[in-house]
Amino acid sequence: VRLTTGQGGLPVVQVDGATAAAEVYLHGATVTRWAPTGADDALWVSGSSHFTAGKPIRGGVPICFPWFGALDDHPDAPAHGFARLTSWQLAGAQDDGEHVTLTLSLTDADVAASPGAADWPHRFEAVYTVVVGARLSLSLTVTNHDDAPFTFEEALHTYFAVQDVRTTEVAGLEGHAFLDRLAGPGPVPGEDAPVRFDGETDRIYLGVGSGAAVHDLAAGRSVVIAKRGSDATVVWNPWIDKAAAMADFGDDEWTGMVCVEVCNVRDTAVSLAPGASHTMTAMYQLSPTG
Ligand code: BG6
Repeated sequence: VRLTTGQGGLPVVQVDGATAAAEVYLHGATVTRWAPTGADDALWVSGSSHFTAGKPIRGGVPICFPWFGALDDHPDAPAHGFARLTSWQLAGAQDDGEHVTLTLSLTDADVAASPGAADWPHRFEAVYTVVVGARLSLSLTVTNHDDAPFTFEEALHTYFAVQDVRTTEVAGLEGHAFLDRLAGPGPVPGEDAPVRFDGETDRIYLGVGSGAAVHDLAAGRSVVIAKRGSDATVVWNPWIDKAAAMADFGDDEWTGMVCVEVCNVRDTAVSLAPGASHTMTAMYQLSPTG
C-alpha cells in the first residue's frame, strides 16, 4: 500500500495486494481501480474524467452523499452531494496478507469549504471502509453528531467495465417496479426479464434489499453484487446523446460501462437520531458467466 500522486496531482492510494490490485483517490474517496489477480479491471473510468478538486471523478465508485441527484428546494446545490467533490482523510491501511483494508473518513469540518456544504448543515462523520481482495467490499457508515435528527441519501455510484453494454444484462431486479427518470415521476411495473440496454437507461428500484448481477455476455464475465443496509438500486447508462453532452465523458465510451448503484435514495433515504449510525455495504465478486 502506498500513498502517491495520481492524475491531476491528486493523492491516490495504490494497493498491490496478494489477491487484487486497487487504486483509491482521497478525492471523493473514489475507488478507481479493482482488479483481482489475473483478471482485467472490473471498474470503468472515463478517459475524459476530471481529476480536479471540486469536480467528481467520472468512473470508479463515486460516493453520492448526503443527497442523490438534485436536492429538493436547493436548485444550486451540486448534483449527488458534496462527498464526491471533497478530499477525504486516510485514517488507516492494513494488510493481513490476503486483504488490504483502507479506512477513509469525512466530517462536516472537512466539507466546510466545499460547494453544497451550506445546503446540508449538519454535524456528521462518514467512515468508508474499503476491503480489497478477490472480493471488493465497500462500507459507508454515517453517524449523526448533531443534536437533532437528520435525513440523507447515499449511493455507491459504481461504474462497471463491460465489453459492450448492448450485450450486457443486469439480473436480480425482475418483478420489481421502478422509477424511470426518463419517463416521469410514477412507478413503472416490474419486468420479468433481466434489464437489457437499447437506449438511455436511468432507473431507480425502490424497496430492493437484495443484490444483482451484471452479466457481460460478450466477455463471458459477471459481477455478482451483494449488499446490506441498502433498500434501493439504481441502473444507469447514458447512451449516445447524453454521453456526447457530458464534457467529462468520451463520446464513444458509453458502450463500455454500466452503473449499478447500491443506494438509499428517495423514499428509502435514511433518518438518524442524534448519536445514531447507519452502515450500507456493497460487495462485488467476479465470476465466469454461467
Ligand atoms: C445516475 C443518475 O445515478 O447518475 C443519472 O440516475 C445521472 O440521472 C447519473 O445522470 C450521472 O450523474 P452525474 O452528476 O455524475 O453526471
